[in-house]
Amino acid sequence: HKKYRRFETVRLTDRTWPDQEINKAPDWCSVDLRDGNQALVNPMSVAQKTRMFNLLVKLGFKEIEVGFPSASQPDFDFVRKLIEEDRIPDDVTIQVLTQAREALIKRTYEALAGVKRANVHVYNSTSIVQREQVFNMSRDEIKAIATQGARWVRDYAAQYPATAWEFQYSPESFTGTEIDYAVEVCDAVIAEWKPENGQKIVINLPATVEMSSPNVYADQIEYFCRHLKQRDKIRISLHTHNDRGCGVAAAELGVMAGADRVEGTLIGNGERTGNMDIVTMGMNLYSQGIDPELDFSNIPEIIDVVEYCTELPVAARHPWAGELVYTAFSGSHQDAIRKSVNYHTEHQQTHWNVAYLPIDPRDIGREYEAVIRINSQSGKGGVALVLERDFGIELPKWMHAPLSQQVQQAAETQGVELSAATIKTIYEQSLVNVP
Ligand code: KIV
Ligand code: ZN
Repeated sequence: HKKYRRFETVRLTDRTWPDQEINKAPDWCSVDLRDGNQALVNPMSVAQKTRMFNLLVKLGFKEIEVGFPSASQPDFDFVRKLIEEDRIPDDVTIQVLTQAREALIKRTYEALAGVKRANVHVYNSTSIVQREQVFNMSRDEIKAIATQGARWVRDYAAQYPATAWEFQYSPESFTGTEIDYAVEVCDAVIAEWKPENGQKIVINLPATVEMSSPNVYADQIEYFCRHLKQRDKIRISLHTHNDRGCGVAAAELGVMAGADRVEGTLIGNGERTGNMDIVTMGMNLYSQGIDPELDFSNIPEIIDVVEYCTELPVAARHPWAGELVYTAFSGSHQDAIRKSVNYHTEHQQTHWNVAYLPIDPRDIGREYEAVIRINSQSGKGGVALVLERDFGIELPKWMHAPLSQQVQQAAETQGVELSAATIKTIYEQSLVNVP
């Protein structure tokens, strides 16, 4: 298998994370307006960015990466707009990305002039591939870029004393970096920033390209947390991408392995296969009874805004949010849902425990109408339920089987889903034929 390079990385044998579970939401940081935006066919307009920013605030995000102002004039202008129009709530920290180059760092602070609080996020690539093939630099040279960048970030911040600054460093392509070297670089950056004097610092550990399974990423996170010198004074952040389809799983295991914070996007927009999806991880927590500390009570609104801003459709089977994820067409599923929902109501259960429905769709702003839909695969339980639900018609037991046969026949002939109105018509016609 010469084509596939196996990357040797840390594998803990004394890991602690399998014993743990997430019992509290991590700090969330949305990167929709930066990583999400930079991956779009058409970058967001000012109107789209503003709508996304307002939604993120409404959902309860306290940290929002709003762009890469030194690399893009529209991003620069958007940061200025947020500040000059006083659109940033006092409890929200905006974050901006910059490379570790002096001119770019200087420009970043110009974009942020006058902001009350902000996080300046500096990064450089540290992986073997990038060092050897992109930069042609030694480990010491790459480390020097990081520490020099950290000094510029610190020194320019001093020119704007009225702002509450936070600093963030990402060893980009962390998962392709020798772990002890990644710790060494981050220790050196942290030493420049002096958390011991109260400086707020985030170290963000990206799976820039998802190259390994989530358990390997979690081992790397646990090892990093154990070896970082001033771990207790630093927030450790995760930034996972979804190349192998496991961006959310990696973030969840990474939190179990000791991280404090997660960066991601709504519905998983972002480079290539996207960033980890905060809606999915948040809803995973919710379904386990843990408050995600983000408001997902109106997911249809989230989908509207995401589709408007990204100009990409949300898949019908997207976890928790897709149009079809709370819908059953098949007869046996419909029957089980109907019985289970009735049981839930009759017994006034406090915990949702309904067959085939992992949560109550109403919790996220969806109606029960979409749960049972009728096509040629549907059964008698579904037909009876639609008549009762939409028209208050209580179908006598003896009619269940013959009517559902007629409905099934009609659906097979038409080859499409049948509306509730069509089912009612079939029911009324069948009454005419009753002997
Ligand atoms: O994926 C990545 O590595 C990034 C960094 C800039 C944090 O987006
Ligand atoms: Zn990224």
